[in-house]
Amino acid sequence: MPKKSMTDTSGFGARLVELRKAGRFTQLELAQKLGVSRRMIAYYEGETEHPPTTILPRLAKVLGISADELLKGGGERDTSTSPQPAATQVGATVEANMKTIYPTAEGVARKTRVREVYHEGDIRIVQGDSRRALSQIPDNTYQCCITSPPYWGLRDYGIDGQIGAENDPDAYIADLVGVFREVRRTLREDGTLWLNIGDSYTSGDRRWRAPDKKNAGRAMSYRPPTPKGLKPKDLIGVPWRLALALQADGWFLRSDIVWNKPNCQPESVKDRPTRAHEYVFLMSKAESYFYDFEAIREPSANGQDPKNRRTVWNINTNGFHGAHFAVFPPELVRMCLLAGSKPGTKVLDPFFGSGTVGLVCREYGRECAGIELNPEYVNIALDRLSKAGPALPLYAVANSH
Ligand SMILES: C[S@@+](CC[C@H](N)C(=O)[O-])C[C@H]1O[C@@H](n2cnc3c(N)ncnc32)[C@H](O)[C@@H]1O
Repeated sequence: MPKKSMTDTSGFGARLVELRKAGRFTQLELAQKLGVSRRMIAYYEGETEHPPTTILPRLAKVLGISADELLKGGGERDTSTSPQPAATQVGATVEANMKTIYPTAEGVARKTRVREVYHEGDIRIVQGDSRRALSQIPDNTYQCCITSPPYWGLRDYGIDGQIGAENDPDAYIADLVGVFREVRRTLREDGTLWLNIGDSYTSGDRRWRAPDKKNAGRAMSYRPPTPKGLKPKDLIGVPWRLALALQADGWFLRSDIVWNKPNCQPESVKDRPTRAHEYVFLMSKAESYFYDFEAIREPSANGQDPKNRRTVWNINTNGFHGAHFAVFPPELVRMCLLAGSKPGTKVLDPFFGSGTVGLVCREYGRECAGIELNPEYVNIALDRLSKAGPALPLYAVANSH
């Protein structure tokens, strides 16, 4: 039986260009009709592999065709008997302009490709698995790394290769230790890691989680079984397991900062307190390192001289509705950034998500490199960045770190 492809979206970018021109829209006009940035339209016009899902229905409506037609052209194609279609004209141009950092070798699935999708001035964004992307970065590059990896078993980011979907916490921690070993190599000798990580409970062997009206990302198509050595309802202790594993791997564990969330989400539990905090671990590559304590001093109670920042940080979460996952509050990033770097130095986020670290870096004059697996989130980050700062040319791919 010939196999049908699930969704063959090849030619999407070229189709979008054609339809936009037929409708006599400039990229900017179309973007304005949809309430997105021009950059997002430009990005999708070059995108044959990951067309948008977030704006697809509105885009199709404005262009006057059905979403399915826009996405797949003539409908589902049979890929088992016909060769892969050649890249479209527009797709090919953009592909040529993208620097494929980890070239797609024969037999290697495209999903494992790592590619630089954006690099202009202060911000560089790489789409792909951070485990592979980091290996392309030279030693001693970044002053600090500020990041929030996916939590174990809590979110389904809906993409192959995602960290956090491992079957047990030991495998998850081993994956993250590997990522952060590479991060350490890319840090300067006086560099630091600011690692935000939350905890989770065992599932009690429930194998899935129903959609959550307040947070779509909390629905899980799978739930890992209760890990060996733990019981149903156990708090797993992921942050400390990870911190100790990183310490054993060579990091200097310098501080556990409690991020207290005064506006935390209510929980329906009646047999324990509501969880209102996460950790930020400050770790260093070497015994002495850059730490600007003055930049983040806090007011003292008597109104006299400010005092050294304490380890409990009260920072509200602020929902960002463009994404279905835990987004950093900019204030949390600001604290780590000011203490961990000087203006003009380079900062890394290997789990870039919607690009909050990039936004704060731009505001405070640091260069930023972000790595993100999910192309949809890369698009969200591009959109946020282009709205926040000066318009930057798309796909300008200088090759410096
Ligand atoms: C907690 S979110 C980061 C949110 C980010 N701090 C922000 O402010 O938007 C974790 C991110 O890691 C990404 N991710 C998961 N596995 C990855 C991998 N193997 N390589 C790179 N990114 C990955 C997910 O797609 C998700 O966007």
